[in-house]
Amino acid sequence: MRLVETSLSLSSTYLGKAIYNNKGQILLNEGVQLDTRLLQRLIGMNIHYIYIQDNKTEDLKLHYPISMKLRRKAITSIQKHFDEFESNRQFSNVLVLEKAAKSLIKIIREIQAEIKDSQDLLALLSDVYTYDHYIFTHSLNVTMYSLAIGMKLNLRDYELETLGLGAILHDVGKVKIPEEILMKPERLTDEEFFQVKKHTVEGFELLRNIPSVTLIAAHCAYQHHERLNGSGYPRGIKANEIHPFGKIIAVADVFDAVTSNRIYRQAMLPHEGLEILYSGSGTLYDQKTIEVFRQAVAVYPIGITVVLNDGRKGVVCKQNIGLSDRPVVRVLEENGIEVDPYEIDLKTLLDVMITACDTTFKKS
Ligand SMILES: [Fe+2]
Repeated sequence: MRLVETSLSLSSTYLGKAIYNNKGQILLNEGVQLDTRLLQRLIGMNIHYIYIQDNKTEDLKLHYPISMKLRRKAITSIQKHFDEFESNRQFSNVLVLEKAAKSLIKIIREIQAEIKDSQDLLALLSDVYTYDHYIFTHSLNVTMYSLAIGMKLNLRDYELETLGLGAILHDVGKVKIPEEILMKPERLTDEEFFQVKKHTVEGFELLRNIPSVTLIAAHCAYQHHERLNGSGYPRGIKANEIHPFGKIIAVADVFDAVTSNRIYRQAMLPHEGLEILYSGSGTLYDQKTIEVFRQAVAVYPIGITVVLNDGRKGVVCKQNIGLSDRPVVRVLEENGIEVDPYEIDLKTLLDVMITACDTTFKKS
């Protein structure tokens, strides 16, 4: 299985991994033979990368950090409770809100347990088409990333619960913003941006009145767009004025936003998403949080083709926990010439480096 750019030249190859919508329903099944019509449809849906079958890498398996069953349950539950939060806020129906918060806490515990069990690097690479209701998938992804960071920082269970709840609800204030604004491909007007920014305060106001949502979790919604140098919103607070959980969710939020399929721009690959974070390290985002995040996330996911500094090229076939940017690579080419596949572990070959990813497809 190999990760390649969606292009018409993939015609007559076979899809290596099913493509889902955000409700967990299959849009296109694994094993389907691709043709121009299907590929055009995928490109039209802004799905820029897909996995295809390939005989040199057919044994590679991708691990999604949580089961499809839990993912479906989590998305449905986030959607349901966000709607409840929205429809009950005017009446301040605390009982309904309290029940919703408790049910989300349960889901967070399940997610935490599954991530912990999988003992794997997080690879959420978009196989999900999320034109609609992006916010629910995004909330789940941000929760998984935030929990993974929290676990690496050895937070205690009650802290992880608060962090998870803050993450799953960080954008709850967005339910009030019209979809046209959230989905708008062009630059927002000042008035629209003003409306978008309000989701932080609205989320905070809603959450701080729910008894089982701790004040820190409510502050996650309030603070996740604040930046270290004070350039964020809504208050423009700085550095240590921002709670550590606010810093964690900021990193998770930005990474997921740039690596997800959106209708108006192309998803970046994980190493590119990390570059964005690094470019703001210490000025916008907390340096240590980024460092911990890098260790938790699959920088080069399984199935991606990488170019090495010694002229070799191959496909990532295994991750190294703790050394997320030095995976095991199955070499397929040496200086442009195909070779019989063999594997090298970048963990032990410290002078060999990944210099680029190659997602173009060449029929062999
Ligand atoms: Fe947000």
